[in-house]
Amino acid sequence: MRSAAQFYHQVAEEYDRRWAYPASVTARQTAWLARKFRPGRILDLGCGTGRMLGPLAQAGFDPVGLDHCAAMLATARRRHRGPRLVLADAGQGLPFEDHCFDLIISLHATLSHLTDADERRRLAGEALRVLRPGGAMVLELPHPASFPPDQPAGAWRTFSPGISCRRLGRRTEELRLDHRADLTTLIHVFDPTDLATWLADFDRVLLYPGFRAGRYHPHRGDTMVVCAYKD
Ligand SMILES: C[S@@+](CC[C@H](N)C(=O)[O-])C[C@H]1O[C@@H](n2cnc3c(N)ncnc32)[C@H](O)[C@@H]1O
Repeated sequence: MRSAAQFYHQVAEEYDRRWAYPASVTARQTAWLARKFRPGRILDLGCGTGRMLGPLAQAGFDPVGLDHCAAMLATARRRHRGPRLVLADAGQGLPFEDHCFDLIISLHATLSHLTDADERRRLAGEALRVLRPGGAMVLELPHPASFPPDQPAGAWRTFSPGISCRRLGRRTEELRLDHRADLTTLIHVFDPTDLATWLADFDRVLLYPGFRAGRYHPHRGDTMVVCAYKD
């Protein structure tokens, strides 16, 4: 079992080819963010190979990318000369001044890798600290229906193409790459109750089904989008 940083170090070279969202999804997510939020300074937490940074800059945002995996950031750096890229662990504090971002995003299930409750708590506090009043944090996470509670613990099942997972505990799954069975890491399963507790210090928390319009459905959907607002 690897830490998330070790896991991504191992897959960085093939990440874009095998697992990155296609450009059409990036375009849809950028358009959604541009519709909902005024352009401003935006922090992409766990930016990976930086697929969002260029499109966000083109949409008028001023993006900063943060990731704890140097190999993923190296690809982002090759791809984008403009945006600032920061090597840091989001669970260990955010290396930025108070009130310096209008928006924080963390897409493609990135924060599922924060399996430590203390790190999640620290990140919520840090996000509030670095956000300006009127700012928001937008998280895209697997929909809880992706992890049916009636699955027998320990049995591997397909999570997404090329990736399997198995339940280890009530809120913990192990993730495995099908072509490299030795390469596994843990993820945390968020549900709305959990989120409400975790993000209780924000002023409002809204849930959306993926990056579509409409209301969140508790039993349907492959991803959910969480918007936590700071008034
Ligand atoms: C599934 S990839 C998603 C990348 C990007 N957010 C996207 O939407 O394409 C997850 C990324 O989050 C990074 N990551 C995971 N946990 C992190 C942490 N605690 N701090 C910083 N980066 C983290 C990984 O290194 C990896 O690059």
